[in-house]
Amino acid sequence: MANEDQFKKVISHAKEYGYVFQSSEIYDGLSAVYDYAQNGAELKKNIRDYWWKAMVQMNENIVGIDAAIFMHPTTWKASGHVDAFSDPLIDNKDSKKRYRADVLVEDYCAKIEKKIEKEVKKAEKRFGDAFNKEEFVSTNGRVLGYQEKIDIILKRLGQSLEKEDLADVKALIEELEIADPLTGSRNWTDVKQFNLMFGTKLGASAETAMDLYLRPETAQGIFVNFLNVQKTGRMKIPFGIAQTGKAFRNEIVARQFIFRMREFEQMEMQFFIKPGTQKEWFEHWKAHRMKWHLSLGMGNDNYRFHDHEKLAHYADAATDIEFKFPFGFKELEGIHSRTDFDLKQHEEFSSKKLQYFDHEANASYTPYVLETSIGLDRMFLAVFSNALRDETLDDGSVRTVLKLPAVLAPTKAAVLPLVKKDGLPEIARQIIDDLKWDFNVIYDEKDAVGRRYRRQDAAGTPFCITVDHDTLKDNTVTIRHRDTMEQQRVKIEDLRDIIKKEVDVKHWLQKMK
Ligand code: GAP
Repeated sequence: MANEDQFKKVISHAKEYGYVFQSSEIYDGLSAVYDYAQNGAELKKNIRDYWWKAMVQMNENIVGIDAAIFMHPTTWKASGHVDAFSDPLIDNKDSKKRYRADVLVEDYCAKIEKKIEKEVKKAEKRFGDAFNKEEFVSTNGRVLGYQEKIDIILKRLGQSLEKEDLADVKALIEELEIADPLTGSRNWTDVKQFNLMFGTKLGASAETAMDLYLRPETAQGIFVNFLNVQKTGRMKIPFGIAQTGKAFRNEIVARQFIFRMREFEQMEMQFFIKPGTQKEWFEHWKAHRMKWHLSLGMGNDNYRFHDHEKLAHYADAATDIEFKFPFGFKELEGIHSRTDFDLKQHEEFSSKKLQYFDHEANASYTPYVLETSIGLDRMFLAVFSNALRDETLDDGSVRTVLKLPAVLAPTKAAVLPLVKKDGLPEIARQIIDDLKWDFNVIYDEKDAVGRRYRRQDAAGTPFCITVDHDTLKDNTVTIRHRDTMEQQRVKIEDLRDIIKKEVDVKHWLQKMK
């Protein structure tokens, strides 16, 4: 299936199976705002728990907090968001559509990258088993030419943005003859900076109300609480503070479903370290976070690091973990070595000391910070899009199956009485009553059992348990595995252990070792 079709299928499947709905759909929706439905809320919670367990529960020196979304407005002055949290936007005068200027250029480069992929595919066909991709891309003249073009364009874009030379960004768009993707018009305005923070007001009367922002990242709630947590938790450096929560950004181009939203959720961890040790901690967290991703078994080839050449002013190293979404490799998680920038800024703006007293060295210092930051919604999209498959079976029929990692699946098992009589529904209900203490389980008696299996496959349920007439005789049931479609006859009393073995967080997180 072409990538675009696959992505459309992901979006419609997410709606049809109760994962993601457009927000306020009855009023025609709100752009780039989504609601998580009954299954989506469970999947999201399971991803959040999987992250929390790996970061907080498994690390003695990391604790979790839950800071407020509203913060004192000076926070955002200190963090640099008031002055610098903006994207370069450009309007098309004919279509009146607004775009991110840098994204237009990046999309142009992505098209060249597609040409490279085409060349590789062609060569793969031609050379068969003898094909060596690495050698081909590093020697083929056409591929090297494409790559050089991409490098030159991206380098110029990076330099212009760094120098705030927005006129040159526009010149680049014009030189490349980039057109409005919707209308083909090349009638562009100048490029302007646009601050992404949403403003709101706190207070009952218009005169006294205080201007606030909805937080654009959760990280600042951690920085301002650094000393509170360190003292009350008697934390010794190195230590981390983690949190998950909503963040808000008035994205100029919000598209690609839940990939780029205006209201989204982050899972962030700030690791406070001794200055000078940042390089080794950067490598540590890079490796550790990649292991977390790989533990879910979504395909090692679907991940790659993208080290930043152009660093934010506060960072001395940065990398993205990119994932292969249906629309290509894109950032899933960011890992930044943020130096002491944030704590120093908050010290300056609050006039409060945010230092750590090192008993061994008998001296105080401002810690450096290593940050890991992943979007929960983006992780949801990675998991969901990777799991959705159309499989052709031996009999030629096609089944749609959502192969979610069992640990994350919203419902772990469906219990199905073969028929709605002869006492089978009652036994199925008893099994549910017993299993629901440990897992999310559901009861389903509608339609033929084959159709029920397919329904659960498409919903992502790892197990179906069927109660039939033999159950009445020997207390056994059939358990069917979603991924292999294998069926086993097992004792009812063994069900809990069989399911637990496959869905237990421990079983999955141990793969990180
Ligand atoms: N505290 C650092 C920070 O916020 P970021 O790269 O701007 O860094 C971190 O964001 C992660 O948050 C990204 O890797 C992405 O997964 C997620 N994210 C950022 N903007 C998003 C958006 N508009 N919609 C969904 N997820 C977003």
